[in-house]
Amino acid sequence: MADFKTAPADASVGVKFMSWVDNRFPATQLFKAHMSEYYAPKNFNFFYIFGALAVLVLVIQIVTGIFLTMHYKPDASMAFASVEYIMRDVPWGWLIRYMHSTGASAFFVVVYMHMYRGLIYGSYRKPRELVWIFGCAIFLALMAEAFMGYLLPWGQMSYWGAQVIVNLFAAVPFIGPDLALLIRGDYVVGDATLNRFFSFHVIAVPLVLLGLVVAHIIALHEVGSNNPDGVEIKAKKDAKGIPLDGIPFHPYYSVHDIFAVTMFLMVFCAIVFFGPELGGYFLEYNNFIPADPLKTPAHIAPVWYFTPYYSMLRATNDGMVNVLCGLAGIAGLISLLGVKGKSRIAIAVSVIVGIALLKTFDAKFWGVVVMGAAVIILFFLPWLDNSPVKSIRYRPGWHKVMYGIFVVFFAVLGYLGIQPPSEIGTLVAQIGTLFYFGFFLLMPWWSTIGTFKQVPDRVTFAAH
Ligand code: HEM
Repeated sequence: MADFKTAPADASVGVKFMSWVDNRFPATQLFKAHMSEYYAPKNFNFFYIFGALAVLVLVIQIVTGIFLTMHYKPDASMAFASVEYIMRDVPWGWLIRYMHSTGASAFFVVVYMHMYRGLIYGSYRKPRELVWIFGCAIFLALMAEAFMGYLLPWGQMSYWGAQVIVNLFAAVPFIGPDLALLIRGDYVVGDATLNRFFSFHVIAVPLVLLGLVVAHIIALHEVGSNNPDGVEIKAKKDAKGIPLDGIPFHPYYSVHDIFAVTMFLMVFCAIVFFGPELGGYFLEYNNFIPADPLKTPAHIAPVWYFTPYYSMLRATNDGMVNVLCGLAGIAGLISLLGVKGKSRIAIAVSVIVGIALLKTFDAKFWGVVVMGAAVIILFFLPWLDNSPVKSIRYRPGWHKVMYGIFVVFFAVLGYLGIQPPSEIGTLVAQIGTLFYFGFFLLMPWWSTIGTFKQVPDRVTFAAH
């Protein structure tokens, strides 16, 4: 692309304008660095569309959110009615609201796929640790954003969901009750809670999210994209310093992403226009009833994207705490076999202290810890995986089975979190929770075992 900085006297008005801009702001330079001269591996597949889709959903949420805020009233006595007003009286209000509520679920569908892609192709490994860490922080911010947004319509599920989750913080030893009070701004979920959640939902968290997304992409463009083969394309460059297996992001992947956006929007519109409640999964039926602090719904369940973690919380009962004590004991014994001297004493003391702590605090508190740890553990993934290859393509067959079981358990945990508690459901959720943590905590060990395939020097690519 032409450099506009020095435009000849007879240049067109457009070129002169770009020259004026480029001498004041690096527009062309930025476009080149991040689009037309950003060399992405030529073997991207289906899984590589979700980053762009996440950006699209973020924009949809921000734009629809701005219009919703124009008509919404963050007041406990008016919030529910103001949402009904948006749905019935504001011109196109129903569309804006359904786009925003569908967008919330679509965000999690897209982000879960995006994260899974990172997991199977080892995109979190060196040198992309920070890309992953920014991603995990985005995921946390997204959860906070969705949770606080859900209180705003002030329906039964908004109210009681917030009540349940905020009460969890009260289980934190020593500071719990004060912490819950600080979050609520009152002794019960009320107007003060609605006001602070509104303020966080419309400005504080979106600002953090935007900043994190920018940092995420800057970090990615610094190190370059990974690909389904997990081969570093920067290792083989031509005389001009361009990766041999790289193609300019624009126009090759911008066109690719526009196609994905079109397909995505077809599904998105089908849901918005024909089934915005999606059987009660995207908009829960109980949330069409105004919040009533005197009437607890028979069954309180969070929206589907939180249910895997909610299941882990519910699975952590006294029985599970006993299992954890047993596992801590076994892990301690195994570690003792491999060490001598003072380290043995240190291990024995840590196991005893660990078990004592597990038994001292309530199972409810450990449930909160388990739920939080299930997200926090993702931050450490770059240092848990010791496999000699990045991509699942070159891992032993049984590793693929492990990743398959992981997905099945995650989905089962999600399903169980929607169902009312049952004995068998709790047992399955406990097994799922143990598998989830085992998958990550034992990864340093299991990720090295098995026969790995030879990783090729160059990416594998068949023109299509
Ligand atoms: C608002 C949410 C997010 C947005 C807008 C976003 C955006 C993007 C974009 C545009 C890319 C480049 C295109 C692609 O590789 O698909 C990307 C790559 C990446 N993202 Fe995200 N992302 C988000 C959330 C996350 C989360 C939650 C994680 C993980 C916890 C994550 C991890 C990654 C990784 C590891 C890459 C590099 C992938 C590779 O090169 O193979 N992202 N992201």
